[in-house]
Amino acid sequence: MEQSTTDPESTWIVVNKQNPLNPIDYVPKDLVAPQFPVLNANPYGRKLRKEASKAAYKLAMAMKAAGKGSLVIQSAYRSYAEQKTIHARQVEKYGLTTGEALAARPGYSEHQTGWAMDVSARGQGCQIRVCFGQTKAGRWLAGNAWRFGFIIRYPSEAMEVTGYQYEPWHLRYVGQGLAIVMHEDKVRVLEKFFGYPSAPNY
Ligand code: DAL
Ligand code: ZN
Repeated sequence: MEQSTTDPESTWIVVNKQNPLNPIDYVPKDLVAPQFPVLNANPYGRKLRKEASKAAYKLAMAMKAAGKGSLVIQSAYRSYAEQKTIHARQVEKYGLTTGEALAARPGYSEHQTGWAMDVSARGQGCQIRVCFGQTKAGRWLAGNAWRFGFIIRYPSEAMEVTGYQYEPWHLRYVGQGLAIVMHEDKVRVLEKFFGYPSAPNY
């Protein structure tokens, strides 16, 4: 298909605090819960779009083969309603400013596209914590996820652009072609690559 930064069917979609999903309650079509034989990388049966789930499988296999550990998908597709609950929980726990630097409002999360997943590595700790970036797995993912079409969507230096704190666990599938070009150009965030304005706030 023709790629587009505004169409949630496209792996190039830019979703941020200034660019909600359209429609706001969008549901992707071909969600699957990959089972990853042997690796057991998806113990909670999280769903991704088919293309992203195939890429996640290759990524998990390569990480294992490189001796960097066993990938575990903690979260992937989240519906509008699920995101609403998560957002409310974080805002209640940390207040509006910090809560919204952690969780998107419903309709504004990449998780709702089916192109994003939060990962950890079995036995390496730092699950969904900033220190994951310093684990063997976290370092390998930062250096290699692009080869499989994923980017670390919320790098530490880009909070003013993305509006979110450093999330070394949040992998966004953008497709191999785009991920390779972003890697070669050393551009880490979609906003910069596509010339979108920074989106620190709603
Ligand atoms: N944690 C990411 C930003 C989300 O809620 O989509
Ligand atoms: Zn995430």
